[in-house]
Amino acid sequence: MLETKRLWLRPLSQDDADDLLEYHSDEIVVRYIPWEPRSLESVRSAIEQYLALPMALHQEGDSVVLGWELKASGKIIGQSNATLRSLPDKTADVGWVTSRHFWRQGLAFEATQAFLGHLLTLSSIHRIVANIDTRNAESARLAEKLGMRLEGEFKQAAYTKGEWCDMWLYSALK
Ligand SMILES: CC(C)(COP(=O)(O)OP(=O)(O)OC[C@H]1O[C@@H](n2cnc3c(N)ncnc32)[C@H](O)[C@@H]1OP(=O)(O)O)[C@@H](O)C(=O)NCCC(=O)NCCS
Repeated sequence: MLETKRLWLRPLSQDDADDLLEYHSDEIVVRYIPWEPRSLESVRSAIEQYLALPMALHQEGDSVVLGWELKASGKIIGQSNATLRSLPDKTADVGWVTSRHFWRQGLAFEATQAFLGHLLTLSSIHRIVANIDTRNAESARLAEKLGMRLEGEFKQAAYTKGEWCDMWLYSALK
């Protein structure tokens, strides 16, 4: 569990399903995320998968997902994820998403700054990358505001939702 001024970053449970549905079902929010808009049933199965995660980054493929709980209301308004992609290279990738009702309030920045700061303290992590669709300018700005560095643009590097997508690679180093 991590704490910021306005948020708790904590593991999700089935009690959070209705809050997650608000943004997991939102076509605009998931536009550049690999999943299709989700029903309550598919949110529940996503949470089931989160509950099965190791919630630590020790072995290659290990993942962590933390919901962002607004202290003021107890509501989950977004989430962070990270996966350890290479153990020898100590490299993880990260992702972020904010519920649309809460966009432009600095919450993704606040949560992700704490999340990255925590990941960079882990002995298994030296480098963190974010793969961002080149149409997703707001996410790229967020990465830049977080101090991540643009390392390159990769043509047709992801096949997502039936099309080839050009991707930016951003990184942060320990
Ligand atoms: C990207 C996203 C997480 C930003 O969430 P947010 O909570 O609105 O972000 P913040 O309010 O913390 O903004 C932080 C910075 O991001 C950038 N940013 C966020 N929204 C932006 C927008 N619509 N246009 C331009 N820059 C934007 C700005 O640099 C902003 O800093 P500023 O307010 O000082 O200018 C949100 O738009 C989102 O959930 N998008 C859909 C999910 C997604 O695409 N996830 C990433 C997949 S790689």
